[in-house]
Amino acid sequence: MTSTRYSRTAITLHWLVALFIFAGFGLGLTMVDMSFSPQKLKFYSWHKWIGLTIFALVAIRLVWRLTHPAPAMPASMPAWQRRAAHVSHLLMYVLFFAIPLSGWLFSSAKGIQTVYLGLLPLPDLLTKDMGDIVLAAAEAEKPFTVSELIRLFHKFMNYLLGALVLMHIAAALKHHFIDRDDILGRMLPWLKSRS
Ligand code: HEM
Repeated sequence: MTSTRYSRTAITLHWLVALFIFAGFGLGLTMVDMSFSPQKLKFYSWHKWIGLTIFALVAIRLVWRLTHPAPAMPASMPAWQRRAAHVSHLLMYVLFFAIPLSGWLFSSAKGIQTVYLGLLPLPDLLTKDMGDIVLAAAEAEKPFTVSELIRLFHKFMNYLLGALVLMHIAAALKHHFIDRDDILGRMLPWLKSRS
C-alpha cells in the first residue's frame, strides 16, 4: 500500500544527500579556480570524500525507494506535471550515480588513486595510460585526451544537475505557496500539514 507520507528514513536520506550535494558542488567550483597550494589539495580530497559519501547514500536511498514507494501525488496535479516530476526525479538519480563515478574515473585516469577519508584506498577504475589516450590533436594545442573527456563530462553533468536542482526547488516552493498543497510538508515534517 502507498503511504501518504515519507518515512523518517526517506526524509533523512533526502536532506543528507541535499546537504552533501550543495557542499560538494560549492567545493568543486571553488577548488578548480584555486592556484596550486596545500589548501587546494585538501579541498580536492574533501570534495572526493563528499562525492563518494553521496554515492553510498544514494545507493541506500535507491534501495529504500524501490522497497518503500513514495506517497502518491495530489489528485489535483495535472498529468503532465506528474510526468515531469517523475522524469526529473529519475534523471536526478541517474546523475547522483554518474557524477561521483565520473569524478572517480577522472582521478583514476590522471593516475591519482582515491583514498576515502584518507583511510580506505579505492581501486582505480582506469589506468593513467588509458586516460592519456589522445582522441584529437591539433597542432600547437594541448591534445584532447580520454581524461579530458571525462573531466568535461563530470563538469557538464554537474551543470545539468544544478539546473534540475533549481527546478526541483522552484517546483517545491510553487506547490507550497501557490498550489498550497502538502508536497513540501511531507518532506519537511515540521511544516504544518495541510492534509
Ligand atoms: C555528487 C557528487 C559530486 C559533485 C556534486 C561534484 C561536483 C563538482 C564540481 C561542481 C566540479 C567543478 C567543475 C568545474 O566547474 O570545472 C567538480 C570537479 C571535480 N571533481 Fe567532482 N563532484 C562530485 C563527485 C566527485 C567524486 C566522487 C570525485 C572523485 C573521486 C570527484 C572529483 C573531481 C575532480 C578531480 C574535479 C576537478 C576537475 C578539474 O581539475 O577540472 N568529484 N566536481
